[in-house]
Amino acid sequence: MIKIIITILILINILFLYLLNKKKIKKFFYKSKIKSVDIEYLNKIFTNKIIDKNLSGPKDDVIVKNFCIPPNNNIVGMTSNYEAWIISSLSTISKKIFEFGTCSGKTTYLMSLNSPENSEIISLTLSPENLNEIKRNELDNKISFRNILNESIYNNFLFTGSKFEKKIKVIFQNSLNFDESIYHNQFDLIFIDGGHTYSVIKNDSEKSFKMLNNNGIILWHDYVPGKESAKNVVKYIHNISKDFEIFHIKDTSLCYYTKKNTL
Ligand SMILES: C[S@@+](CC[C@H](N)C(=O)[O-])C[C@H]1O[C@@H](n2cnc3c(N)ncnc32)[C@H](O)[C@@H]1O
Repeated sequence: MIKIIITILILINILFLYLLNKKKIKKFFYKSKIKSVDIEYLNKIFTNKIIDKNLSGPKDDVIVKNFCIPPNNNIVGMTSNYEAWIISSLSTISKKIFEFGTCSGKTTYLMSLNSPENSEIISLTLSPENLNEIKRNELDNKISFRNILNESIYNNFLFTGSKFEKKIKVIFQNSLNFDESIYHNQFDLIFIDGGHTYSVIKNDSEKSFKMLNNNGIILWHDYVPGKESAKNVVKYIHNISKDFEIFHIKDTSLCYYTKKNTL
């Protein structure tokens, strides 16, 4: 009897320790296969200004317009505040921007708030009416597929009706059927945050490589090794990192690729 009680207590302790250290344990088992870099490696605009010997902070270049969505607003599929600031800052130097996956339009709105006056933002997404076109491929993660259905719920966006809406063109289409050939070599900034299934992330990335201009940046969202719903994003990025130099940005779920390394 005592042996059984001790075994149960040990098992409860192991479970408790696992739950407490879930993130660290996952990090240990699911290692990133690409290099993680500090944000200033991505672009010089992120280099800190030294204010005092114990204080440094953002330069004027990266003081951006921002807004927050209170958690009780229940908006799905958003970037973190730090990631949103990175994308907003890059938008200040981007005239042509493309986004795969609009969702609530939070990031699209930030892009339009911070990009130059004459910039153009195209965001491609599924509307609830498009969902009957979506099929799960055998390589596609089930949770990522379910998330596509859960996140394709908007016909209007956070920027709808705002004065910045004129910069934005939303295309409601399955990206698998999107013909990118008229957009080759055009974009300064491409944000890949559409479907997170293998077939969609591969499709969106391959099209992005063709749409990027020589000085442009591709950003992928949700590179989180060990997270079930991000499994296909991680798998695809690891697969192509043999051919393309892709970096992970520390303390984010963002990865990036540039034709010209800005290091
Ligand atoms: C994670 S949300 C995007 C979040 C948004 N980028 C943001 O930062 O607020 C994913 C979006 O991708 C769209 N999506 C998923 N699969 C797609 C596909 N095959 N073609 C086009 N859009 C897709 C969904 O409709 C959803 O709006």
